[in-house]
Amino acid sequence: MREKSILLAGNWKMNYGPKETLQFLDALKISPKPKAKMRLYLPAINLETAVKTITVKSLPIEIGAQNVHGEKSGAYTGELSASMLKEIGITQALIGHSERRQFFGETDQSVLKRTVGALTQDLEVLVCIGETLQERNQNRMPDVIRTQLALLLADETCLSAFGQRLHLAYEPVWAIGTGVTATPAQAEEVHALIRGLLAEKLGAERANATRILYGGSVTPANFKDLLACPNIDGGLVGGASLKPESWMQLWSLCP
Ligand code: PGA
Repeated sequence: MREKSILLAGNWKMNYGPKETLQFLDALKISPKPKAKMRLYLPAINLETAVKTITVKSLPIEIGAQNVHGEKSGAYTGELSASMLKEIGITQALIGHSERRQFFGETDQSVLKRTVGALTQDLEVLVCIGETLQERNQNRMPDVIRTQLALLLADETCLSAFGQRLHLAYEPVWAIGTGVTATPAQAEEVHALIRGLLAEKLGAERANATRILYGGSVTPANFKDLLACPNIDGGLVGGASLKPESWMQLWSLCP
């Protein structure tokens, strides 16, 4: 039996500014959990406020960025670098969310570049992968997952970071923001596939040390059953991370 280390991660997407961030953090009543960590991926403009607030309030929360560029600096209008994030105390970044792929032209290749750049500059990275509804309906889910993972698994920087500073989120695109959650069995099938692919390349120990979060319409009503699956190490939560009540309920379900 794997020893799980649970991560409850919220992704606020393009919601809330600094004022609402403060209100949210003020409303949180949470204590540390023995086997779980909490993290929030916030819009860039909220990061510094959030870091300062959790420090002052001693809240057991890690704060992360929703994206980061792979280059150290340069002519990349609208982007953030790892050193900018680190300067304000951020060491966590989400990369490759399906909305970045769908609306902003990010690809497996650009996700790889960002990931390698971020890892090289000492960030901890959560990379999102997952199939669309069309791909699932065409029985292409395993191929899509294999392809999305293949570039990461072929890269030396990523290979040495898996299970340490590189972790994954499986987010079926058809379940994101739709209210349709993958059933625990559907999710576990893909998580087991991902873990198996990691194990082929990295061995069982490193594969087991890699966190694989599930994301897509996670709520307090379905989180417990998802967490009970052997290969699901937590949730990446959009909608239900936006209200302190539902967020605290999710935390209460963590071990
Ligand atoms: P959702 O979003 O929980 O609102 O479906 C999840 C995500 O996109 O990370």
